[in-house]
This record gives sequence, structure tokens and C-alpha cells, in this order.
Amino acid sequence: KQPMTLPRLKTLKAQGTPIAMLTAYDFPTAQLAEEAGVDIILVGDSLGNVVLGYDTTVPVTLDDMIHHTRAVVRGAPGTMVVTDMPFATYRLGPEATLRNAARIMQEGGAHAVKLEGGAELAEEVKRLTSAGIPVLAHLGLTPQSVLQIGGYKVQGKQEKEAEKLLEDAKALEQAGAFGVVLELVTEPVAAAVTRSVQIPTIGIGAGRGCDGQVLVFHDLIQYGSGIRAKRFVKTYADIGATIRTAISEYVEDVKKRSFPEERHAFAADEGKAPEATER
Ligand code: KIV
Ligand code: NA
Repeated sequence: KQPMTLPRLKTLKAQGTPIAMLTAYDFPTAQLAEEAGVDIILVGDSLGNVVLGYDTTVPVTLDDMIHHTRAVVRGAPGTMVVTDMPFATYRLGPEATLRNAARIMQEGGAHAVKLEGGAELAEEVKRLTSAGIPVLAHLGLTPQSVLQIGGYKVQGKQEKEAEKLLEDAKALEQAGAFGVVLELVTEPVAAAVTRSVQIPTIGIGAGRGCDGQVLVFHDLIQYGSGIRAKRFVKTYADIGATIRTAISEYVEDVKKRSFPEERHAFAADEGKAPEATER
């Protein structure tokens, strides 16, 4: 597999080759994502919702993101890894932003960072990119501002909103962002943004006109209890149900003493554990 680079991403856009991005938060998922041919892994701060059990992404810390990035990079050494800068860590001025992003790169091992917001972040994006840190922008529904926005609403429906999205995308491109995630944006507006910039757009709930797509891993495979599939998500497996069944069978086996069996146990003369037992 060809390693992903920033010039290659631009080429993919120019060629009309779609970019497949997926979130991952741990070593085994990163391994599987790399094996399955994911172009870019996002260590999203959706970590807060799907892994850590928070209601929003607001409580996620820089240390949380670094910790999970390290695991992902170990699992997918041949894949481009982008890590979300968490809430407020890029809103205290360009120098503090650079210090925080540098920790994500140096301690976490990420290849790029993602920040939520528009033209008001131009100075931050310039500071990071001039220091050699690639930046992915994120427009539309920006979950770190959900308390300000007042809910998970589709963006770009009003003409003023649509115009602002276009202006923000252009300003971020100008500032040096290598791409832009468009979350919960109407299909025509996302397509218009895609046409108006040279950098790739990666959509989530943003329709068919984007240069790439991103989904949250746990949504894709319904990993968790009572995952409510949003309309823009396509679910490819029901891993939650599979896991629940497996665990309840295990519990039942233990209660019935039908696990372990003789083949799982060691006799008096067996010193070394065999590599694996059959199911
Ligand atoms: O945190 C995340 O998973 C994201 C994607 C939804 C784009 O930011
Ligand atoms: Na995020």
C-alpha cells in the first residue's frame, strides 16, 4: 500500500478518487483498519462518547487523546493518523495551540491534527502549518460547540450559513489546512464547498458530493449498547449484539460449570501452556 501524503491527498481529489477515513481509538481496531485499507485513521474526540462514556466531547483531555493516539499508531504503523485537538486546547492563542499540537505529534505520534472551527482559526492554522504540523479543518456541525449551537442540527440550510461555510473553507485552505471535514451539512452546500476548494473535503452526514467520507467506528459496526444509528450512518455489522451473546454464553457456561472443560485444564505432568486451544 502506498503511504498517504498530503500531496497524494490533493492528487486523489484531482483524480476524483474517494478517500476513506475511519475513527479508531485502540491498537486492535487500528490494526484491522490498516489491514482493511483505510486511507486515514482519525483518533477522534468522539472517544469521549463512544469509548469513555461521556455525553459530549467536552470532557476529553489532551492526555486522553495522546494516550489513545499512541495505541493507534502502534497498531497502524503504515497509515496516516490524524488526532483531534480536544476542547479549548487550540483556543488560547497560536503559541498555546502549537505547544498542545506538538505534544500530540511528539508524545502521541500522530501525523496531523484536526480542529473544529472556521476563519477565526486562521492564525492557529498558519502557526501549526508553518511549524510543520499538518492541519485538517472541521466545519458544519462542530460537536465541541454543541452547547453553543444548541443541539446536533443539520448545517447550511440558511443561505447565510451556507455562505459562511464557503468562506470558512476558503479561509482555512488559505491558512494552510490540507483538508476539511464537513459534518452534518446539506448535500448541495457540501458539494459547493467541495467545488470551491483545492483541498479534499471529507464528509460525515454531508451527502455524496464530498471528496471522501468518515464514520465513527462504533457506529459502523454498532459496537456498544443501544447504539442509535443516525440516518447518515451505514451500519455494516451488529457487533454489539454479537458481543452481548458471547458474554452471556460465557457467564452461563461458568454458572453451569460447563467451562472450563478437561481440554482447557492442565494435568499434573503438563508444564507448558499450549499456544492455543480449539474452541
Ligand atoms: O471525533 C470524531 O469522530 C470526528 C468525526 C465525526 C469527524 O470528529
Ligand atoms: Na471530533
